[in-house]
Amino acid sequence: MPHLVPFFEQVDKLQETFVDRLKEAVAIPSISSEDERRKDVVKMGHWLADQIKALGGTVELRELGKQPGREHLDLPPCLLGRYGNDPKKPNILIYGHYDVQPAQKSDGWATDPFKLSIDDKGRMYGRGSTDDKGPVLGWLNAIEAHQKAGVEVPVNLIMCFEGMEENGSEGLDETIRAEAKGFFKEADAVCISDNYWLGTEKPCLTYGVRGCNYYAVEVSGPGQDLHSGVYGGTTHEPMTDLVRIMNSLVDPDGKILIKGIDDLVAPMTDEEAALYPPIAFTMQDLHESLGNEVSIFDNKDDALKHKMRYPSLSLHGIEGAFYTPGAKTVIPAKVIGKFSIRTVPDMEIDAVNKLVEKHVNDEFAKLKSKNKMKLNTVHCGKWWVEDTNHPNYTAAAKAVERVFGVKPDMTREGGSIPVTLTFQEELGKNVLLLPMGSSTDAAHSINEKLDKRNYIEGTKLLGAYLHYVAGELKRA
Ligand code: BES
Ligand code: ZN
Repeated sequence: MPHLVPFFEQVDKLQETFVDRLKEAVAIPSISSEDERRKDVVKMGHWLADQIKALGGTVELRELGKQPGREHLDLPPCLLGRYGNDPKKPNILIYGHYDVQPAQKSDGWATDPFKLSIDDKGRMYGRGSTDDKGPVLGWLNAIEAHQKAGVEVPVNLIMCFEGMEENGSEGLDETIRAEAKGFFKEADAVCISDNYWLGTEKPCLTYGVRGCNYYAVEVSGPGQDLHSGVYGGTTHEPMTDLVRIMNSLVDPDGKILIKGIDDLVAPMTDEEAALYPPIAFTMQDLHESLGNEVSIFDNKDDALKHKMRYPSLSLHGIEGAFYTPGAKTVIPAKVIGKFSIRTVPDMEIDAVNKLVEKHVNDEFAKLKSKNKMKLNTVHCGKWWVEDTNHPNYTAAAKAVERVFGVKPDMTREGGSIPVTLTFQEELGKNVLLLPMGSSTDAAHSINEKLDKRNYIEGTKLLGAYLHYVAGELKRA
């Protein structure tokens, strides 16, 4: 692949342009979960569309209608783009998201989360830097470097960039279904850069993600918040009920306490168990990314299995709870507890929902409380596992070796990307996750960052992948 050399050289030359591009993107606070920020999510979609157009691509910003359950809000548009239209070239569908998680300086960030701040080690801090603006821009950087190097992009790119991923990709499945035989029809394979390496040195290819069923339990009773001195001891307290219910879901060692959940999990075969020991990952990597030595398991294989292969249940928060500093003597009248279950093969969404419903109802009944309890399912997305014996993966492995000089680890992810399964099922095409960021990037946390090295070498990787996949698909 001799034409990769001038492409790589251009990527190196254009580093500062690429960093500036990321700076502009991070400055738009496109938080999909906050009503007041919805306009910024839309702004981000337009910014991205303009960038793609400036590179010579064509773009449609497809409106997705109102947000289900929150009809005062329009969903952010889904960006459907194309670059190249040569019938002799294969078509690669690339997906990413331009929305981000919430962030406030007061959460504990060392720098302004919406101003890309680069330290002397080349760590670029900012919300969305690694999840998922850096990787999305990596594709655009790769196009630009090809153009400036005078090297043809070897495939046609079909782009799908959404603004609602961090909220369960609302509205997107319908669009993919509707366009499977339309806009996405020609796609030969799918590539998504929206996850992370297991450590900080060795790249990986990812062939599975866990699903995510997200729930909200609402407990209400008193007509308004009450003085705990005046009414404490005389009323059923919603928070007391809710904490009992939440406490009944999972034990401190992460064991899910909902009856029947374990029976839904496919048994681990010997063949599968053998996949974990060769993965380059250490307990030190884990502790580093956890920010402390608080891991449940003391060996790497169990830690990996529980991240990639077994379900987990996490408690996220309580809406309506008193949480600010100080000592307020209040009895909240209504509280909503949020939790989610990461699901794995063979857990079906409905089967999990039924068990959760029964468990929560039974636990509430045990309390004999006069309060009201309601369980809502916020969103559900199923797990996905892909066949790695495919030119898409062979190509990506070659690209990793070319750029980084090592064979990639083959991993599954604990996090969820709902659209992976939709692409696999609706288009019937092979889906590959090709990450750019590393385990220490702190996606969703404070001080999220992307290392400049990962951004620049990652741009080379995405570009190289396009060359290898063009070759592999032609041969297949
Ligand atoms: N980039 C992540 C997905 C991810 C996280 C992949 C960790 C691999 C490892 C994505 O932006 C994300 O966070 N997705 C949500 C989806 C959920 C709302 C259905 C997640 O996993 O929490
Ligand atoms: Zn993401």
